[in-house]
Amino acid sequence: PEESTISDTGELSIGGVPVTELARQYGTPAYIMDETGLRRQIRRFVDGISSRRPNSEVLFASKSLPCVAMYAIAQAEGLSVDVAGGGELMMALTAGVSPERIYLHGNAKSNQEIQMALEAGIRAIIVDNFDDLDRIEKLAAKPQKVLLRMIPGITPATHASQVTGGNDSKFGLPPADITRAIARIEAHPMLEFEGIHVHIGSQVLETEPFAAAVRSVAEFGSFSTYDVGGGLGVKYTYDEVAPSVDSYLDTITEAADRLLPADAKLIIEPGRSIVARAGITLYTVNTVKTTGKTFVAVNGGMADNMDIALTGQRYEALLATKIGVEPTVVADVVGRQCESGDLMCQDVALPDPQVGDLVVMPATGAYAYTLANNYNGACKPPVIFCADGSSTLAVARETYEDLLHTQQPALQRRW
Ligand code: LLP
Repeated sequence: PEESTISDTGELSIGGVPVTELARQYGTPAYIMDETGLRRQIRRFVDGISSRRPNSEVLFASKSLPCVAMYAIAQAEGLSVDVAGGGELMMALTAGVSPERIYLHGNAKSNQEIQMALEAGIRAIIVDNFDDLDRIEKLAAKPQKVLLRMIPGITPATHASQVTGGNDSKFGLPPADITRAIARIEAHPMLEFEGIHVHIGSQVLETEPFAAAVRSVAEFGSFSTYDVGGGLGVKYTYDEVAPSVDSYLDTITEAADRLLPADAKLIIEPGRSIVARAGITLYTVNTVKTTGKTFVAVNGGMADNMDIALTGQRYEALLATKIGVEPTVVADVVGRQCESGDLMCQDVALPDPQVGDLVVMPATGAYAYTLANNYNGACKPPVIFCADGSSTLAVARETYEDLLHTQQPALQRRW
């Protein structure tokens, strides 16, 4: 994270709070956010886009870190948010995000979710398909703005599970159906058609596909709004190279100025590129063993970071109190879940790893908390925000009671 420092002895601090203090206060595993760096990154997007194209809006793709504290920070820093369903909508409203800054996504929205959105008076619903449209037409009792999600036919180079804009995508309607959908929206007394949405994929490490995304919506006609989605990739490992926010914004606003109507609003939906590098996960080493190779096993794993198994994303891992200390061994840092694929970081040079050492995995601010699960009875880790030398608990650690909360007593069995 930007606001991280390393002491003379090699101990990491996030937002001025030493990792040993965080571990003592909150336990491990824990998701730690550098709030100052995070807010600075948000402003790079918000100020960066509005200085280039004043008629624009940045929606935080809240699926990347959906917690009430993060929605509140997003709202305070001038972001709007996109929510991917009723659960995220509820959290955004609970955090006090104004409904006119909320956009609802989803390729299989329910009546209940659409009803919630209509009642809350959110800014816009992004229509993904004709069943969405049927539902909204039926339920809209007052005026509602909508966008239409189109399949752009763009496949950027990223992991297959992260490509969402190819012609075989389950998201959106093919261009051939868009005209018919617009006609239906325009014929409905309560619906107002705002424009087109596309999203090409995630962890995209070049800028050209974003210009292509603008091109794909521009070719489609003249509307008041063009939402070109999220997807800007970030640097996870030492050898990864990612575009800067500025070069991304240059590309996208230059394409917009060249190809879109001058008075049209440009929307982007960054998620990962806002939160990923502001976050780390802190673990404790539970076992060290040498068989054919050395394994350093931590007290977390794919239950708190699904990204590695899901997308093949690679991460770095360091001993959080021995940073810069001369390595003594090359080891695999592994998790504690019952899968061989639960491998956090392969062949990493570590300085004398010992049971009880703290391990930091950088750049886990996006989609790690989101995809946390209870595999092997794991309790989801807490989320903690750090700034100016103090820490604040944003999401508490799950407990065994939480795990039992939805379980029915064994004695009630009737089969
Ligand atoms: N807009 C839409 C409609 C999206 O579906 C997404 C991400 C975004 C924006 C934000 O994209 P971002 O800027 O964060 O790349 N499971 C994967 C991530 C899936 C992303 C889903 N959609 C992972 O763990 O990396």
